Amino acid sequence: MEEHLTVGRVAELACVSVRTLHHYDEIGLVRPSARTVAGYRAYAAGDVERLREVLAYRRLGFGLREIADLVDDPDTDAVAHLRRLRALLLEQRDRAVATVAAIDTEPEARAMGIRTPSEDQLKVFGAQLYDTIGSAYPATRRTEPRIAARVWEALGDARTVLNVGAGTGSYEPPDRDVTAVEPSAVMRAQRPEGAAPCVAAEAESLPFADRSFDAAMAFSTIHHWRDPIAGLREMRRVARRVVVFTHDAHDTAWRDRFWLIRDYLPEVTGLVAGRPSVQRLAGTIGARLEPVLIPWDCADGFFEAYWRRPEAYLDEHVRRAVSLWTRVGPEAEQRAVDRLRDDLASGRWSERNGDLTDLDAAELGLRLLVA
Ligand SMILES: C[S@@+](CC[C@H](N)C(=O)[O-])C[C@H]1O[C@@H](n2cnc3c(N)ncnc32)[C@H](O)[C@@H]1O
Repeated sequence: MEEHLTVGRVAELACVSVRTLHHYDEIGLVRPSARTVAGYRAYAAGDVERLREVLAYRRLGFGLREIADLVDDPDTDAVAHLRRLRALLLEQRDRAVATVAAIDTEPEARAMGIRTPSEDQLKVFGAQLYDTIGSAYPATRRTEPRIAARVWEALGDARTVLNVGAGTGSYEPPDRDVTAVEPSAVMRAQRPEGAAPCVAAEAESLPFADRSFDAAMAFSTIHHWRDPIAGLREMRRVARRVVVFTHDAHDTAWRDRFWLIRDYLPEVTGLVAGRPSVQRLAGTIGARLEPVLIPWDCADGFFEAYWRRPEAYLDEHVRRAVSLWTRVGPEAEQRAVDRLRDDLASGRWSERNGDLTDLDAAELGLRLLVA
């Protein structure tokens, strides 16, 4: 017989008040669908599963209306929710790492008699992963002209362009009226002289009226967004056309064909688990998907850029400019680098991947979404 839990027992186990549970019931978020023998309403297994999702999203800071949309999504089953929650918790951990790093600088400064300005004290709460790792970014990250040409072509005749998650300004078209959005102060500070004006904001809540821009673009950033679906909806709201460059983390080409993940850094698979598929992202904004091949001599040092130049990954500067290397943690990073160095020296890497030297461009799951 299926186990049913009373409201009181559920409140006790989940460490929430009975009042909270009644409220969720009243607004239709989680309804106890069963009855106890004595006729009281009770939570069946499915209700408990739903409540667990609701409480986990709540703990992550989602609002009740947003949560209702998430848990009612017919395309997301329990396992998909768990994966997504895991990814969100990792993101929260990244933010905590950034906040701790920001806090850590203060005692030292105080010991030297320097008081942290009020504005900087508050910025600690908004610390972003890129506030911690962003200063290493410009060493290897820049516009790759062949990929930029694809993005700019997809922008069509747009005159006003919003670049969301703009970072240091790579891929911003020079011949249009660009406005940038970037939450990390460190990244904003590294935008070159004369770069487009940049607003401190997040994709999930763009501070612009509906249809303010001809087009909105996002390059290599949506995997960092707390809620990529909400961010894409925002882009769609503020712009007539949307162009996004991202990777298909569900695609086997990305996980299994790219030797770096397959043979050296399988931890990356865990980091991307639970993210919405690229098809779902495209569906959200009604976009078509175009594959983007990565040239062997790609000028922008993103994660996949050095697929035919494996020695590059041994370079600390290359790794520090790509967040995944920080996110997998120092142990996995060191192990991967040591193993790659050994395999390059022994010829094992070439034995396994010799066929790559004949390719000028590789399909590694990178995609342009054009809506
Ligand atoms: C890999 S960088 C890409 C920067 C730039 N688009 C480029 O191609 O060089 C990712 C950027 O996304 C930003 N980002 C992180 N979370 C964001 C959010 N919720 N909304 C907008 N941007 C975000 C980071 O601060 C970082 O600058």
